Amino acid sequence: MTVSPDLPQVLVIDDELGPRESLRMLLKPSYQVHTADSVEAGIRLLREKHPDAVITDIRMPGTNGIDGLRKIREIDPHVAVIMLTGFGALETAQEALRLGANDYINKPFDAHEMRDVIGRNVERTRVHRTGENAASEIKELNNRLLKELAQKERLASLGQASAEFVHDLGNPLTIVWGYVQLLARKLEQSEKAQTPEAPTSAKELNIIEQNVRLCRELLTMWQSYGSVEAPPHQPISVTKIARDVLKGANAIAAQSEVELTADICEDPCTLLGDAVQIQRALQNVIVNAVQAAAERKGSVTVTCLREEFYGEVRVEDTGYGIAPAQVAKIFEPYFTTKQAKSGTGLGLYITKKVVEDHHGSIEVDSTPQIGTTFTIRLPLLSEPA
Ligand SMILES: Nc1ncnc2c1ncn2[C@@H]1O[C@H](COP(=O)(O)OP(=O)(O)OP(=O)(O)O)[C@@H](O)[C@H]1O
Ligand SMILES: [Mg+2]
Repeated sequence: MTVSPDLPQVLVIDDELGPRESLRMLLKPSYQVHTADSVEAGIRLLREKHPDAVITDIRMPGTNGIDGLRKIREIDPHVAVIMLTGFGALETAQEALRLGANDYINKPFDAHEMRDVIGRNVERTRVHRTGENAASEIKELNNRLLKELAQKERLASLGQASAEFVHDLGNPLTIVWGYVQLLARKLEQSEKAQTPEAPTSAKELNIIEQNVRLCRELLTMWQSYGSVEAPPHQPISVTKIARDVLKGANAIAAQSEVELTADICEDPCTLLGDAVQIQRALQNVIVNAVQAAAERKGSVTVTCLREEFYGEVRVEDTGYGIAPAQVAKIFEPYFTTKQAKSGTGLGLYITKKVVEDHHGSIEVDSTPQIGTTFTIRLPLLSEPA
């Protein structure tokens, strides 16, 4: 007769052939029965078969049932263990329960009782194991979800960082493009005028070079994103950065017929920071101002001044202004009113982040149809010169 592999499995450990075989006969119809004549042989079968219940005699030569119980528990804490005890061995049976046996039956056993006890205990093991499996499946699922979440978060933050870098490549590229066109026109005019000496273009080339360098630095920053820590902050001059940004912005302003004026103080306004980041921040605010003023052929004024503990960069424009309901949203990522002109709405978000990384503040004051003023304040390193 072949035994269905789905039947619950019972392991019987008894050194005496009689009880061992009578248990086998009794249980065979409902269980897959494995038998062992010693604790050692029983332990081997336990590891191999993972039974649902173990019935073990207590009194055996060599390793007795109580020591066997300890070994079984080390291997499988959940399998039900039923001890077989001789008459008058109640104390040993209680000791066995204390050590983690689930039940005991006196020898000679009653077949009916034996079936009952085994049925109950097999069920107990199965419930335990199902619970265990569910718990470990939940744990595994949880781990997998956490891993996926971390991966998604990393991808999302990489996506966000990429969008920011792409955004800030746009400003220097526009500047470079503006100056290349300017140079081309200059050359064309001098060719037409047939002047013997070539036009001087050192200033324009210098601005082009500066902005190409900014593009390259942004690219390097992006490439090392997540793998390299941000460079340590260095002493940098806010006024120098403002002058550099203005040189570039002049081309954008000229193209848009916006008058761009600047009033930059003599103090270097030194702080500990990252020049590329501050350059991004100022470029974004100034480009916004030029864009706002362009529609109304307005003007933009950039002022840089030194206060006792901080430097202040003010960017004022006579552009279209910001509706009061929108003022609260302009620093949010992806908020833009320039959909038609492919604004991504990342400029002010990046700017605010950079300013706050440098422990500064950014403020806006705007009146629709009159104009807007952005004020950036950055704490400085030293006393005024
Ligand atoms: N100087 C300004 N005058 C009027 N509105 C402004 C000015 N600066 C910013 N805004 C408003 O704030 C919004 C968000 O500006 P932000 O620089 O973050 O994005 P954007 O300029 O729209 O797009 P992007 O900078 O990504 O090209 C703008 O769409 C505009 O509505
Ligand atoms: Mg912008």
